[in-house]
Amino acid sequence: MKLSVIGTGYLGAVHAACMAELGFDVVGIDVDADKIATLQSGKAPFFEPDFEPILERNIAAGRLHFTTDFSAMADADVHFVCVGTPQAAGSLAADTRYVDSAIEEVARYAKAGSVVAGKSTVPVGTAARLQAKLDELSAHGIELAWNPEFLREGFAVEDTLHPDRIVIGVQGESAEGWLRQVYASMIAANTPFLVTDFPTAELVKVSANAFLATKISFINAMAEVCETVGGDVVALADAIGHDVRIGRRFLNAGIGFGGGCLPKDIRAFQARAAELGVEEAVAFLRDVDAVNMRRRSRVVELANEMLGGTVGKRIAVLGAAFKPNSDDVRDSPALDIASTLAEGGADVIIYDPEAMANALKRFPSLKTADSIEQALTGADAVLHLTEWKVFRDINPVEAKNLMNHAFMIDGRNALDLQAWRAAGFEAKALGRP
Ligand code: UDX
Repeated sequence: MKLSVIGTGYLGAVHAACMAELGFDVVGIDVDADKIATLQSGKAPFFEPDFEPILERNIAAGRLHFTTDFSAMADADVHFVCVGTPQAAGSLAADTRYVDSAIEEVARYAKAGSVVAGKSTVPVGTAARLQAKLDELSAHGIELAWNPEFLREGFAVEDTLHPDRIVIGVQGESAEGWLRQVYASMIAANTPFLVTDFPTAELVKVSANAFLATKISFINAMAEVCETVGGDVVALADAIGHDVRIGRRFLNAGIGFGGGCLPKDIRAFQARAAELGVEEAVAFLRDVDAVNMRRRSRVVELANEMLGGTVGKRIAVLGAAFKPNSDDVRDSPALDIASTLAEGGADVIIYDPEAMANALKRFPSLKTADSIEQALTGADAVLHLTEWKVFRDINPVEAKNLMNHAFMIDGRNALDLQAWRAAGFEAKALGRP
């Protein structure tokens, strides 16, 4: 069986390489010639653990190719659409224009009997619209399925090869059969395989992300309450997390969620619900977003309180990526806080093990350090904003020796506050005494 993957960003590149790893012949197609050249040379255009070896191995084996030529999909049996659906400029809604162009390319080149599986995160109703578009543009009766993706950055290969469930939304007869063949090894390993209609499959993805965002904002709201009453949100999360109905995962309070998915998806969900007249059903997502954004402001406030104003103060920011094990800075809380402080007149210097290049693309005027030591040297305060392991391994005594003043804020509740205090730091965290 031959597969094509349209859109070789984060999702598509990993999906293409993992499908080749399963033994399929795969062609990855994208309009971005630089990205295609990088991938074809066996190099990852982004940081993702475990991805590059799979890429290299499958290109060398001749099972995986990348091209900008859309006609390369002509002999594929299944076409995966993995293009981005970013937040549209000046609106909360998702911009689906790349999904539309991908479908136009499929209609132009796909052979009769082949099927399309959409993996991009789309507003509910998109799949039905795209099937109608395919029917109009192609005489081959090409069937569409919606097959949402749940991969996490930093675990993309693991999540693609060992998903905790596979969901497909279908309308016709043949797409399910083809996708059962694609995912046969996972189905044989007892991975739940759920077949639904189009709207349910589309909603599975947005509602999963809305739930995760809500869980994070719930604990961050509790952190706000803890700050008022003197409670400890980490102990609170541990205690409620022991209830199996609640669970401890995704209850880490801190500066909140960012990235290319959660913030965009809860906004697009609200925009789509408003179009459908069910705005009230997801009105709580406004608060989820608001709690999330307030945590960023809280760190800026804390830094000002601690330092008696931040103008002219040297602040070392540890972390730029939206989460560890990623170089992605899209909607990164760390970078947002760093740039707000810098715009407010602080002398901010930032360090991240992998995300410096992307951080500089977004904020070219940011002052960057080449190492943790360089960032800390002469700093009046250190802000820990992305919980990379190398930051947890910092020895607070050594940090204090490098710094001008011993002030620390842990925006991720991941450092050992007692150890930092024992080293002589005035150390603060979110939602903790
Ligand atoms: C998310 C979903 O988890 C994934 O299933 C979907 O396919 C894409 O969106 P990802 O964006 O890679 O994945 O990141 P995730 O691990 O979910 O973290 C999102 C954000 O939430 C990060 O900024 C992270 O730091 C933050 N987070 C996560 C918390 O603040 N607290 C937590 O307890 C967990």
